[in-house]
Amino acid sequence: MPKAVSSFELTLKSRSRHQTLTNWLYGELRSAILEGRLAPGARLPSSRDFASQYALSRGTVVSVLERLQAEGYITSRVGFGTWVNRVETPRPARQAPATPAYIRRVLATYKRPQPWVDLAFVEGIRPFRIGVPAINEFPSEVWGRIAADRARNFRAWLKKDSDRRGYRPLRDAIAEYLRTSRGVRCTAEQIVLVSGIQQALDLLARLLLKKNDPIWMEDPGYFGARIAFDNAGARMIAVPVDEEGLSVSAGMKICPDAKGAYVTPAHQFPLGATMSLERRMALLNWASRTGAFVIEDDYDSEYRFEGPPVPALQSLDNHANVIFIGSFSKTLFPALRVGYVVLPAQLIDSFLSFRYRTDFRNASFDHAVLCDFIVDGHLARHLRKMRNLYAERLTILMEGAEQHLGGLLAISNVRAGLYTIGHLKSGMPSRQAEKLAAAQGVEVLAVDRCTLKRPDPNALVLGFGGFDELAIRQGLLRLAKALT
Ligand SMILES: Cc1ncc(COP(=O)(O)O)c(C=O)c1O
Repeated sequence: MPKAVSSFELTLKSRSRHQTLTNWLYGELRSAILEGRLAPGARLPSSRDFASQYALSRGTVVSVLERLQAEGYITSRVGFGTWVNRVETPRPARQAPATPAYIRRVLATYKRPQPWVDLAFVEGIRPFRIGVPAINEFPSEVWGRIAADRARNFRAWLKKDSDRRGYRPLRDAIAEYLRTSRGVRCTAEQIVLVSGIQQALDLLARLLLKKNDPIWMEDPGYFGARIAFDNAGARMIAVPVDEEGLSVSAGMKICPDAKGAYVTPAHQFPLGATMSLERRMALLNWASRTGAFVIEDDYDSEYRFEGPPVPALQSLDNHANVIFIGSFSKTLFPALRVGYVVLPAQLIDSFLSFRYRTDFRNASFDHAVLCDFIVDGHLARHLRKMRNLYAERLTILMEGAEQHLGGLLAISNVRAGLYTIGHLKSGMPSRQAEKLAAAQGVEVLAVDRCTLKRPDPNALVLGFGGFDELAIRQGLLRLAKALT
């Protein structure tokens, strides 16, 4: 028996004066089936409901349904109802309709964000795509149970959530997590929930900067941040990055009066450095002296596989210069779309009213499920498990690269995060290597896509988090073939 795929009320065109009711109904249902508006398997209402919905006599409906059945368009069975059959539809002979002018205008003028130009987006996740955690390891049964509990009695709690910052118990849970694990100085009042770091960056860029305002950007740096600041019309100042993170002294030389800075101090994207304490203090001193903001993107700091955890830059800030942002994209899964902004108290109202311009409501259901997941201890448990798994996967990647790509790629010795960097020993341009790898079915990201001014660092970003041992080994063999 086919599944009911639709029993929504069907909109029928009105009847012309010369048509009988029977001909009209027959013609409308037949064309709805042929045009696919009534899909194969769709259930039709009973003849009684049909008659009352469209103000027809039941006899008319029954005779039309009988005719459609006789011609093979539908099947009707006593006790099971009536549903639409799969029918071969003739190919439309007409030419495709002309594209409206506004669509042509968009197609002609829309420019893909610069870092993505010529990047092939392939369906299906292949090694070594970045930003992919180990989804197979996610405790989906636990998540499902919590979600079912919440859904079953949502009338009791959903209406209580009136705070524009997002579900209060989740903000409490995040505040506690950030204070304990990241040393962030915050209360739940300072936390605003957003759909992820990218939304946080988009809102902050437009709130904090006017057109042509200068902002320090790590070079190379995170393409998502570059896209957000570009949208806001900001003037991005390329500040070099080395093994201590952003070079604050270079920033002060190039543009001392920038309005702010965007940094990834825990694990610099993409080169991997942890910002040194000296640089952190220099950055905070510059910000407090000039009144600049510092956006701290803490996207994957949970994953450090050696050495003690490094507290957030925000934990050293005494002058409300740092805005801390993070999300659950790496710790849980990116499709969750829950992130957070930790704001200085004086900025909360402006940020909220600014956010109101793009969205009036919060994803409270997801917030509540995530809240229970954290409060019941599942996040901490999952993190512990994932840390071991990712450390193992990184080791497999490093050892495998040594074995198969020894003369071709030097993998960074940073042990953190869900991706690593491989330096092309031959000095091959990173975009060329990216292309050769893609032709062998391997996805690597050219670090050149992350640069602003800096010459191509001849390196590739390799994500390993989402791939098991076999996939990593196969990916490395293909990469070796591509680069040889
Ligand atoms: C530096 C950096 N920031 C942020 C993100 C994640 O952003 P979101 O929370 O929008 O998924 C990523 C993910 O790849 C990243 O690499």
